[in-house]
Amino acid sequence: MEYFTASDIPAILEYTKDFYFLDNNEFSMIEKNNISFFDENLNKISKKHKTIDLSNSSSTKNGYEDFMLKEIFEQPKAITNTVNRYILLNEKCYFSGFNLPNDILLNVKEIYIVACGTAMHAGLASKNTIEKLCKIPTYVEIASEFRYRNPIINKNTLCIFISQSGETADTICALKLAKENGCTTIAITNVIGSSITREADFSFYTYAGPEIAVASTKAYICQITLIYCFTIYLAQVLKSTDFNVLKDLKKELLDLPKKIVSVLEKKETIKNIAKHCHLEKNLFFIGRGIDYATCLEGSLKLKEISYIHSEAYAAGELKHGPIALIENGIYVVGILTDPMLASKTISNLQEVITRGAKTFVISNQKLSNNTFDFVFNIPNTSTFLSPIVSVIPLQLFAYYISKEKGLDVDKPRNLAKSVTVE
Ligand code: AGP
Repeated sequence: MEYFTASDIPAILEYTKDFYFLDNNEFSMIEKNNISFFDENLNKISKKHKTIDLSNSSSTKNGYEDFMLKEIFEQPKAITNTVNRYILLNEKCYFSGFNLPNDILLNVKEIYIVACGTAMHAGLASKNTIEKLCKIPTYVEIASEFRYRNPIINKNTLCIFISQSGETADTICALKLAKENGCTTIAITNVIGSSITREADFSFYTYAGPEIAVASTKAYICQITLIYCFTIYLAQVLKSTDFNVLKDLKKELLDLPKKIVSVLEKKETIKNIAKHCHLEKNLFFIGRGIDYATCLEGSLKLKEISYIHSEAYAAGELKHGPIALIENGIYVVGILTDPMLASKTISNLQEVITRGAKTFVISNQKLSNNTFDFVFNIPNTSTFLSPIVSVIPLQLFAYYISKEKGLDVDKPRNLAKSVTVE
């Protein structure tokens, strides 16, 4: 008999699938051939182990150079696994099995999405979709801010907390605050049995599989996917959007994996673009509407693993200050997926070109290759779903820049996968 201790399941998946989970203030003592558990007063308690149904390949590189690259390529499968848990195309009410009563949903007056880092960006990428389909005001907040600012929330507030690890201290404390104020709380997490699920009223899992690389990729797109599934469900309950519109969106969600595969197949194109940019000291990401959230995520990915300073701006804000930083040769990455806003962002890109910037544009629109230095086409989707596709080239961009620089992609300096302190 052997026993191991770890703060995360994948760390020891190679050795066992049977796990005991410690709650707050509990202890365990491992002796030769025996393990015992104690509460905070050192009274002996009994615990049952849980068998975790995950293959060891989730915690090995499986032939890939790095976990991050493997996880980027696992995204089509991760989306399929997540969507299949929540969507049945022809069913009216398919988000079942969570005992989330309709009368709670019918009384929701506003929604808060609270999270940190990439998980918070998943909230930003979903905000417009929730508002458009459910007609409920939706606010996205950084957990470390939300928890200390006495937000005006009450029993009619639905608070959604997103956390890949389910262990992020700020997010868990923000959740406790929401509960104290009588809100209904939902946790969206990738880790079954994680701390956040023990605190939330309801927990929905993403099925991305274990994410090992510090820089989140597959968990991010599954978080957005899951929120969209939930949004469609909520819109059905509220009858706030025509059923056929929702059905089309469901079809599109089911189609996403194919589109992501087609982007991944063009990885060499991104690799070549990355070769042009890896020596840069500063970069900009600009976009409007839903693309702005993708810019924030692309910029964060680049900072985390390449250590290149970058700024993400809503394209219309450039002229209110940051355009002063645009000088000859600086790279500006433009994201352009919303046909309603495309011409606006193009004109902002032209403004930076005039000032000497080089441009790399990711778009599902037909663009002239003569205007921009690099254009990377992505498949068309409904604008609601575009962040799930447009972020993929940005993940690859950050990855290949980091590789060009010879950095440790999976374990960037100063960062931890689970941030369990505030
Ligand atoms: C993502 O690439 C980052 N490592 C980081 O921003 C992360 O998303 C954040 O710390 C939140 O983590 P969580 O999803 O586990 O709560």
